[in-house]
This record gives sequence, structure tokens and C-alpha cells, in this order.
Amino acid sequence: MKKYGIYRDENNRIYAIKPVCTHLGCELSWNNLEKTWDCPCHGSRFDYKGNLFYNPAVKDLEIKLDKTEE
Ligand code: FES
Repeated sequence: MKKYGIYRDENNRIYAIKPVCTHLGCELSWNNLEKTWDCPCHGSRFDYKGNLFYNPAVKDLEIKLDKTEE
């Protein structure tokens, strides 16, 4: 069984990421206020597209899907 983190933006573009922190592998939590994926272990944060913007992780998230739904 695989887990994905899914976000659909206002233009119906769907982003799916692997919700596992690229630092040491903790499971990420969705932050609905900030629209970010946050790591509860050491505080790394990623935007809904999977781009890293707060350390200590040094890599973006693994992208599983990035497409616009008709
Ligand atoms: S495992 Fe996520 S910040 Fe360390």
C-alpha cells in the first residue's frame, strides 16, 4: 500500500507527492493554513508542489503527479 499527498489548486492542477521527509524519512503532515507539508520531527517544510523551503532537509519531495484535470 502506498501513501500520497494530494493537492488541487484553484486552476484544477493536481499535485501528488510522496509524503515522506527527505531529511530522515518522517511522515509529513499537511498544514491547511499555510498549504505546506510540514515535518513533525525536525521542522523541514515543503510547499504543496514538494519544493523544500525550510531546512534541515536539503532535497525536494518526490513528485508522483503534476497535471491539470479537465
Ligand atoms: S526527518 Fe524531517 S526534518 Fe528531519
